[in-house]
Amino acid sequence: NRLLLMNGPNINLLGKREKDVYGEFTLQTIEKELIDLAHQYGGEMDSFQSNHEGDLTDCLHEANGQYYGILFNPAAYTHTSIALRDAIAAIDTPVIEVHISNVHGREAFRHQSMLAAECYGQIVGFGKDSYRLAALAFLEKMERTD
Ligand code: DQA
Repeated sequence: NRLLLMNGPNINLLGKREKDVYGEFTLQTIEKELIDLAHQYGGEMDSFQSNHEGDLTDCLHEANGQYYGILFNPAAYTHTSIALRDAIAAIDTPVIEVHISNVHGREAFRHQSMLAAECYGQIVGFGKDSYRLAALAFLEKMERTD
């Protein structure tokens, strides 16, 4: 009944960074909300953020089999990282790709995700609620199956 929240580069700067695009909330706020939400469903939520592609790759490997699911905002690596795509393909634990902004309404280079095809699903464009909706997808599913 454990979920893992993963965030990629620059997500540690939420609340300071491009507030018009990403809002005023911080990563700590998201973490707290998701931990509370998981608790409401009798689950647990761990959190990992890194600005380094290799550390995110290691985290996916280590998470394999340890979690019911992973919520992952790969940030800019979404659009570039074959390594993260291959890591998601290599593990059995399902990953939901999460984006705060509606990447499809932004620059063309954000329209493509290298990761999405290997993910269980994708939630995009709901601000901070993108994380919440992704968490609910797993938590509701968890509740149905156990
Ligand atoms: C993002 C969208 C990416 O294109 C961007 O590089 C980010 C954040 C989002 O959550 O909207 O850093 O993943």
